Amino acid sequence: MSVAGWDESDLEATMRQQWFDEARFGMFVHFGLYSGAARHEWVQNYERLTDEDYRQYFENFDPDRFDAREIARRAKATGMGYVVLTTKHHDGFALWDSRLTDFTSMVACGRDLVREYVDALRAEGLRVGLYHSVIDWHHPDFTVDWNHPRRDDENAHALNEGRDMARYREFLYGQVRELLTGYGDIDYLFFDFTYPESQQGWAGKGPEDWDAEKLLAMCRELQPAMLVNDRLGIPADFVTPEQYQPTAPIVAADGSAQVWEACQTLNGSWGYHRDNTDQKSATLLVQMLADSVSMDGNMLLNTGPDGRGAIPPRDVATLSAIGEWMSLHRDAIVGAGHADFTPPREGVYTRRGDRLYLHLFSWPLGFVHLPELAGKVTYARLLNDGSWLKTSQTDPDQVAGLMTPAGEAEGTLTVHLPVRRPDVLVPVIELRLADGI
Ligand code: GLC
Repeated sequence: MSVAGWDESDLEATMRQQWFDEARFGMFVHFGLYSGAARHEWVQNYERLTDEDYRQYFENFDPDRFDAREIARRAKATGMGYVVLTTKHHDGFALWDSRLTDFTSMVACGRDLVREYVDALRAEGLRVGLYHSVIDWHHPDFTVDWNHPRRDDENAHALNEGRDMARYREFLYGQVRELLTGYGDIDYLFFDFTYPESQQGWAGKGPEDWDAEKLLAMCRELQPAMLVNDRLGIPADFVTPEQYQPTAPIVAADGSAQVWEACQTLNGSWGYHRDNTDQKSATLLVQMLADSVSMDGNMLLNTGPDGRGAIPPRDVATLSAIGEWMSLHRDAIVGAGHADFTPPREGVYTRRGDRLYLHLFSWPLGFVHLPELAGKVTYARLLNDGSWLKTSQTDPDQVAGLMTPAGEAEGTLTVHLPVRRPDVLVPVIELRLADGI
């Protein structure tokens, strides 16, 4: 125990987490053989493809436009502080020079894409995140279960004869060790994932299959400062709501604040899916980002490079629009977090030090009323152009006939707005809080 009543591991955990809390916004990159198949990263599972069926994507893997520097620059220009790349997805294909298999990018195209990626991120001053699937549909010892592409084979259960998860574990640990020893400091590791048994009697896969405690201990030993998610099925540093938004700051089982990061797609698919046109609007995504930060969370936004490794033009367009917004509104996101005030119905608050940011998801007519803030704000302005905004409080003695609104609850601060909404994805009002608030 140290003086403040913290023990060493508390302290380590806090340090580990600092940059992550600060950054708030990261990029997920799903790239692999499925990018060439171009119909979702689960294509092998969805279409029950055998290894042989899937092999063509390996034989024809040609990422001539995979440019890690371009990815790093794009992430930075979007206002993101870190990137997370799929080193291996469920299909088992390794994007680095793994010595433990020949199912690698090194064999397929002579490139260690993980090496290119970590170098590029460091050159841009971004934090390095890796995604690693503990599921492996390619490995001969990984048992067939209800998530496996071979589950509907006539002899599916028989396929498990001779498969040995203990042997698979050795391989899994070996590959994780390669990643955590061969590429310098890794800041973040996203394991994926644990799932329960099915109703049809198939086993799931969980902590016992990965020997999760031991695997996490190995991560801690090899990269003590690295954040690890909870998808080994045991608690670690952060939780990962996927494709949905929480509705309040997340509280851990012991009552403490839970570090979390929502991972979100641009169109519902993580891997490149050519014919999926469900692209989210940049406005919606900025709202989701602000919403996450307002609840003390991060957002990890995915892009799936195409079969040649390039970020698809539609993603570039969305990311550029978000980047433009971030360049003006960075202060309301990076280093910001939850604010203990009730926001008006038009939006959410984030807070950084003495600045309170109101992200307006809808633009009200003339005024926005802020409960409990009367007397607590010394200055208000629009963040996009720094233009001053008049504020007032309802005077209970003179209500009728005024051009300012009446009838707001006592203690309400009213901010006067231009009729014309600023031309940005989400307008933000910056409120400077009085000392001690
Ligand atoms: C899921 C999916 C996967 C995706 C991941 C991202 O668990 O299996 O395809 O990579 O989540 O969070």
